[in-house]
Amino acid sequence: MTNDVSPQSALKSPPLWRRLSESLRFQLLLWIVLPLIGVICVNLLISFQSAEATADLINDQMLLSSARVIAEAVAVDANGTVEADIPPAALEMFDTGHGDRVFYRVITAWGTLVAGFLDLPSPKKEQAGEDAVFRGDKVRVMMINHPVVGLAKDAAVSVSVAVTLNNEAAMRERLWLSDFTKQLLLVMVAGLVAIIGLQRGLAPVLKLRDAVRQRDRERLDPFNPQSVQSELRPLVHALNDHMERVQGQMAAQRRFVSNAAHQLRTPLALVNTQASVAAREENPERRSEALQALRTSTKQLTRLASQLLTLSRAEPGSRRPRHDTVDLTAAARQVLETYAETALKRQIDLGLEASEASFVEGDGTMLAEMLVNLVDNALRYTQMGGTVTVALTRQGDWVCLRVEDNGPGIPEGEHEQVFERFYRIMGTQAEGSGLGLAIVKEVVDGASGDIALRTPANGGLIVEVRLPAA
Ligand SMILES: Nc1ncnc2c1ncn2[C@@H]1O[C@H](COP(=O)(O)OP(=O)(O)OP(=O)(O)O)[C@@H](O)[C@H]1O
Ligand SMILES: [Mg+2]
Repeated sequence: MTNDVSPQSALKSPPLWRRLSESLRFQLLLWIVLPLIGVICVNLLISFQSAEATADLINDQMLLSSARVIAEAVAVDANGTVEADIPPAALEMFDTGHGDRVFYRVITAWGTLVAGFLDLPSPKKEQAGEDAVFRGDKVRVMMINHPVVGLAKDAAVSVSVAVTLNNEAAMRERLWLSDFTKQLLLVMVAGLVAIIGLQRGLAPVLKLRDAVRQRDRERLDPFNPQSVQSELRPLVHALNDHMERVQGQMAAQRRFVSNAAHQLRTPLALVNTQASVAAREENPERRSEALQALRTSTKQLTRLASQLLTLSRAEPGSRRPRHDTVDLTAAARQVLETYAETALKRQIDLGLEASEASFVEGDGTMLAEMLVNLVDNALRYTQMGGTVTVALTRQGDWVCLRVEDNGPGIPEGEHEQVFERFYRIMGTQAEGSGLGLAIVKEVVDGASGDIALRTPANGGLIVEVRLPAA
């Protein structure tokens, strides 16, 4: 078998998305990578929140230290005025190179502004950072109450410090980015490991595929199930079973062809001889006899050929299954009419017992062939003056066809074999090739029915066919 891709088949290959959606490797990878990406997205969200909390915490600590340094600088002068000489260190700590602006406010308990901006928003709680807006800028603000030497104990000053959020944002980004990079690296490593794992996991399957593809048409020996993972072994077993069936079918086919050739060769040789005899014969009477014999031989050959053709048509898969609704009673009546002359010649009492139409579903032509072969057998093998009865009855969901004769019958031991192709009972004198009952069996099987042979008490043969009623 060749597996080259012709330009035509390459043109017809399905689009990429379709190939990907049908690829096991892609699907497995998707099922690994998609959940991983989901987990990482959630993780990133969590790490974003944690980076934000960390940046807030650091900022708050800086604001708190700044507020404390400012508070330390608040004093009461000799006149009792509260003053604050803000040390530069209190503000310089925010000079992180991100251009942040710092605002502060020192206010006495009775509301007098000591230093800074009176309108600076002040958090409700002491020593807890809060987000606020000051003159259009988003800021983080922190407030502490601080006792001042020289003031009454409960008249502490309130110191608020606010800073714009540039540094905090930069800090948050740095913290988050480092997390993001680590996680991205993690996904990439996991993806790579998954790809390598898939490649390794699928290797036995791909090897099996190649082995199937590269096999010669004739080679049908089984594949080794141990060469693939345990989950795939049932598939290999199924493949092996299928090949065994194909092998059996091929052998049967070969046997059939050689049998058919053999069956054709003998009458053909006879025809050849009879033709030569007729050609040589000068006596017109004897010549006419030879020609008559030649005609009989050709008739037999024609029958054999048509039986072969019918059998090949009756085989499953040889033609599109037809589901005609066939009245088997009418079909039987028609067949009996065609055989009336033969029956008359052989003085056989040929009768039909059927009170009503018997509808079955199936291939009309094939069902007629079945009837022809059964009636033909009964008439052919029953001695002169015998009786042949075709009966049709309805039994529940089944239509039962019975062809009974009082001829020599078939020994019980051969009831199975007579359905084989080319099988004839030893010593059978009448013409025939042994295909009739094989055809009948194929037709019955094709119509989901069953067939059985029985020997009546007073000798002869009963062929009983049951077909599902339509
Ligand atoms: N009604 C019958 N009575 C006795 N023997 C029968 C009867 N039907 C079939 N047989 C036996 O079974 C054998 C197989 O029958 P089958 O119809 O398959 O082939 P055939 O009649 O020999 O050939 P053909 O292909 O022409 O029908 C026959 O050769 C015959 O010996
Ligand atoms: Mg027959």
